[in-house]
Amino acid sequence: MADRRKLAAGNWKMNGVAEHLAMVGALADSHGQARSEVLICPPATLVHRLAEAAQGTAIAVGGQDCHWEETGAHTGDTSAAMLADAGASYVIVGHSERRADHAEGDETVRAKTRAAWDAGLAAIVCVGETLAERKASNTIDIIGGQLAGSIPDQATGLNLVVAYEPVWAIGTGEVATPDQIGEVHDEIRRRLEKRFGPGVGRSVRIVYGGSVKPANAAEVFAVENVDGALVGGASLKAEDFGGIIEALDAS
Ligand code: 13P
Repeated sequence: MADRRKLAAGNWKMNGVAEHLAMVGALADSHGQARSEVLICPPATLVHRLAEAAQGTAIAVGGQDCHWEETGAHTGDTSAAMLADAGASYVIVGHSERRADHAEGDETVRAKTRAAWDAGLAAIVCVGETLAERKASNTIDIIGGQLAGSIPDQATGLNLVVAYEPVWAIGTGEVATPDQIGEVHDEIRRRLEKRFGPGVGRSVRIVYGGSVKPANAAEVFAVENVDGALVGGASLKAEDFGGIIEALDAS
């Protein structure tokens, strides 16, 4: 665990206009010295301005999605190279909201991950089961399939973060239990080690996402193989996100 730097990543989703950039300064003032790595993924319209606002601070910036090609006739899309040009160092790919809203399958997510790497970005690849899949006891199979299908062969501890986000825990206030999180994170670790070898497998960070708040963060971060969080709603306010960063630093 020692060589994996913990990661507190905020996913603003489709929230945020210019006035929300003030949050970056507030967070840099209050938590700029955090031991954990702090990342904010704003909507594409704010990536460049947020990167400027975060300049000189320890806060990193990421996109929430990218196209699998670098340029071309894809109206409305943003490439990984464009995100990198705007100041991003990470991009989230395969979020369940993209998988559901835009019918993205594992093959697409894999192509996007490769595009992210080609552009020099680290990819945060999201996996997670629906409630129906969990009830049918398919969780491990679903996660295993998503991992195998969504991650290209060239993964390293620097270019890949895996986010386990059970769909039923996203935006619902219902955080997964420590046992549920531990079971899946341990299995993800085992599969990463098997596929990429122990060195790479142990160095990839695995973060949890789904209703993480300051009040439950310590419990989540105490779980083995949890290297941080991908935070939605609670990343929109400096105070809430700061509370999560503090819990992660203390874990
Ligand atoms: P919430 O923290 O709002 O549940 O969202 C989690 C998430 O989807 C982060 O990517």
